[in-house]
Amino acid sequence: MKSLYYIVVLSVLWSSCGEENQDPPGLLDIPYNPEPYELVIPDHFPQMQIPADNPLTKEGVELGRHLFYDPVLSSDNTMSCSSCHLPEGSFTDNEAVSLGVEGQAGSRSSMSLLNIGFNNNGLFWDGRVNTLEEQALLPVEDPVELHADWTDVEEKLRIHSLYPSLFRRAFGISDTSEMTRDLAVKAIAQFERTLVSSGNSKYDRVVQGADVFTDEELLGHNIFFDIEPDVSRHAECGHCHNAPLFTTNEYFNNGLDDVDGSNLLDLGLGEITKRETDNAKFRVPTLRNIFLSVPYMHDGRFKDLDEVIDHYDQNVIFAKNVDPNLRRLNLSDSDRAALIAFIRTLEDPEFSSDPRYQSPF
Ligand code: HEC
Ligand code: HEC
Repeated sequence: MKSLYYIVVLSVLWSSCGEENQDPPGLLDIPYNPEPYELVIPDHFPQMQIPADNPLTKEGVELGRHLFYDPVLSSDNTMSCSSCHLPEGSFTDNEAVSLGVEGQAGSRSSMSLLNIGFNNNGLFWDGRVNTLEEQALLPVEDPVELHADWTDVEEKLRIHSLYPSLFRRAFGISDTSEMTRDLAVKAIAQFERTLVSSGNSKYDRVVQGADVFTDEELLGHNIFFDIEPDVSRHAECGHCHNAPLFTTNEYFNNGLDDVDGSNLLDLGLGEITKRETDNAKFRVPTLRNIFLSVPYMHDGRFKDLDEVIDHYDQNVIFAKNVDPNLRRLNLSDSDRAALIAFIRTLEDPEFSSDPRYQSPF
């Protein structure tokens, strides 16, 4: 009994005088029992492919959510991922182009992260990165984003009051030196994969047989999916913005710019593949919760859905690599209203207000 007492006293003394060791006392006493995170995916959605070396755990997602919302990831502790990806903007910033930590403008519009985990066809507007883990490394050091240095960020996390224990719970680290950028981005990617539609938008309820479209929404649906191909004003939106994600995640030129001219500012996919036929191709964005993520297109050129419909209806530039599914539509006023009414059925307010996706701070 007495010897046990000494051991206890000794170990308390020992751990309290480990000054140069920056581990907070008792990192190893914090339990490491990660629980699987149960991702709820609506029945009519595809399965999500999750990398075998980064399974979703409650503790990993929680760490990722903290990092996503924490300005500790920026050079001057003023900006976080969420500064440009806000839940109320369907995880965009509602700016035409995003502004970085020093107020510098980037050249592109922030992208919605809704259902991002289902995309296996390249990230960013031009698909230049493959995985969410790889992607999350970039904004931290990007000069027009958080403009920090990962080595400094790792140091800030190691001496932080919160993060050593969150990393311990998520990844079982036994020393703060194991708190690396690689684990940080794994946690952020886990959080991003949880950003899944609720399955309770009007559209989803209709698909599940729990609701019906109004006549106007049904007309909009038929125009959107070209249900009657011989009606020429019926569009082919669904060809590229396909159900259930309302994107195929493929790359197209949707006729915004003249690729034959020399004034193309952003080559999009062509910049990555160096193929001229890929110039001005961008990844198709989802239309779910699109009302929350104004303005539209890779450079935010359209301020609302009316302008988008003007574009597809009359203003497509038929450059040589424009997708053949685009044509002048000549929609009537009631067709336009119907198309918008249908797109409104993709609104998912439950997703935007879900407490699991909000800031933990
Ligand atoms: C300064 C604003 C800004 C900050 C800060 C920022 N992003 Fe982004 N994000 C953007 C922009 C702009 C794009 C599109 C860039 C492009 O295509 O070149 C983007 C694209 C993305 C994408 C690709 C989405 C898709 O559909 O392909 C992901 C994922 C993402 N950001 C996650 C993050 C994470 C994680 C952080 C924090 C580590 C972060 N972002 C910080 C502005 C920002
Ligand atoms: C050939 C494929 C294709 C077709 C057909 C198509 N789109 Fe798109 N759509 C795209 C691409 C690609 C983008 C992104 C282009 C960019 O930013 O440069 C886009 C962007 C959009 C955006 C902006 C989304 C955002 O987050 O900025 C909306 C809204 C949209 N499309 C609606 C429609 C509607 C409505 C129709 C039918 C009238 C339609 N699209 C037909 C490929 C297509």
